[in-house]
Parts: sequence; C-alpha cells; structure tokens
Amino acid sequence: MSLSTKHLLGLQNLPREDIELILDTATTFREILDRPIKKVPTLTGTTVVNLFFENSTRTRISFELAQKRLSADTVNFSTASSSTKKGETFKDTVRNIEAMKIDIIVVRHQSAGVPTFLTRISNASIINAGDGFHEHPTQALLDFYSMKEKLGNIEGKKVCIVGDIAHSRVALSNIYGLLSLGAKVSVCGPPTMLPRSIENLGVKVYYDINSAIKENDILNVLRIQLERDAGNAIPSLREYHKYFGITKERLDKYNKDILILHPGPINRGVELTSEVADGEYQIILDQVTNGVAVRMAVLYLLGTLPS
Ligand code: CP
Repeated sequence: MSLSTKHLLGLQNLPREDIELILDTATTFREILDRPIKKVPTLTGTTVVNLFFENSTRTRISFELAQKRLSADTVNFSTASSSTKKGETFKDTVRNIEAMKIDIIVVRHQSAGVPTFLTRISNASIINAGDGFHEHPTQALLDFYSMKEKLGNIEGKKVCIVGDIAHSRVALSNIYGLLSLGAKVSVCGPPTMLPRSIENLGVKVYYDINSAIKENDILNVLRIQLERDAGNAIPSLREYHKYFGITKERLDKYNKDILILHPGPINRGVELTSEVADGEYQIILDQVTNGVAVRMAVLYLLGTLPS
C-alpha cells in the first residue's frame, strides 16, 4: 500500500484512505518506540532536511527523532544561523540546499502556502510542519492517532475544537481530517475567535463551553496564539479563562467521560487549568509520544514511494 500523493501539504484534499494508511502504519512504528533499541534501518540512505523558519519544540524534535529512529540522514536548518540573514532569498536558499541531493523537506513557516510553493521549486517530497494560519497536518494526524488509541474509533465520535480557531492551523487540519474520518465536528469559542461562515465547513458552533463539554466525547483545546495578535480578539486572558477555560469543576460537573487533548504549548491558567493539564481527563503527553510514531509513518510512506 502506498500514499496517493508525493507530498503532505494538508488534510483538506487528502483521501480518507491515505489518512487511514498513515494511522495504521503509525501503529507499527509506535511499538518500536517501546523497544530498548528504538531504531530500524528503513530509511537508510534517505536524506531529510528540516527547514524551520518559525519556533517549535514538539514538531521539530519529533520530526528529527522520527528521522533518526528510521536511520535517515537528517540535517537541521535554522534561520538565525543561515545566509538568509545576509539577504539570500527563500528560493535561492531552498535551491542550494536541494543541490546537496535532499529527498524530503520538512518545512515550518509563518506564511501560509510556503509548502505548496516548495513543491514548485523542488523535486523533493515536501512535508508541511505548520504554515501560518493554514494547516498543520502531522499535528492533526497525531491527534487522531491518540483519539483512536483511547476510544477505539473516530467514526461517529463528537469532537469539539475549543478556543482560538481563527488563528489556528491545527483547527483547520483537525476539521478537514475529522470530517473525512466520519466524526461529528464542532467548534467553541468567542465569536471574535471564530472565522465568519465556519459552519460552511460542516461544523456545529458553540458559544457556551458548558454545552460543548456536555455534548461532546472529545475536546481538542487550542492555544491562544498571542504571537498572532489573538490578544486583540478578547478583552483579557482572565476573561477568556472565565468564560471558555477548561477547569476540573466544569469537567466533573458536565461530563466525567470526556477526553481532553491540547497540541501544546499550553498557556496554563488560560486555556486549561494546571489541574486539567496534568489531570485524569487529558492525554497531552501521549499525543507527544504518538507524534514521533505518526511522523515516522509519514516519512516512511513518502520516503519509500515507488518512483
Ligand atoms: N504543537 C506544536 O506544533 O508545537 P510546537 O510549536 O512546539 O512544534
């Protein structure tokens, strides 16, 4: 079985079969992560460059570990120490890196569309590690893997994405992928954090967090993206927390069976209280562990495509 695409740019147009193939393949790799020697020779001879133009902890380390676990040759590019600081263009930077015979490029960039642009100027397989407000497909895939691991199946499950939807690439990738997998998807947040006409994507809208907690199986709680001006959409973080914050009291009162996910990094005391972030309802660090397996699956499936 192989993917229908050479690149992973987003989940908007990725067939359900491709999503399921990635999740099934990740199960095999997840098992490797529990072995004493967490390494297989699968991608020996494959060269991957990680192009991160925007800050990252989880995604960057997770991709790098996934590449090392698969025995790929891996190189990290960081803007701060690169010749982009001397005025080299993005296109020249990529062309020069690719001239060193790169097979896969993993890219994170603050501008939406950069991964798609890369497919036009490079022959490598491109993996989107988060582009602006647009998509973050591997985050959504690891969310789905973690939901399945805990609840068995996603089809028919009610999943609500909570918070700063307008600034979130995680929200869009989750919405596209969850709808494709047959979940009932909703969003919840202040009107100023919800894009106009979001219902047209096929999601229900909640403005009341207590109803969202009561009526859903899973909450995927998003970070308030202060670096993308999200602070201007709400009067204060304290007020946001009062009306939309996930607290143990709310979960205990409205839905003791709910599952809480968060992609990280967390603003503790804003989206979630620390009691919830570290408590019995959440699977936040399981998401991080599973992220390595999911990224191994994506790298494996793209790195072994028939030419
Ligand atoms: N979830 C996520 O993308 O985290 P990082 O920004 O740390 O990679």
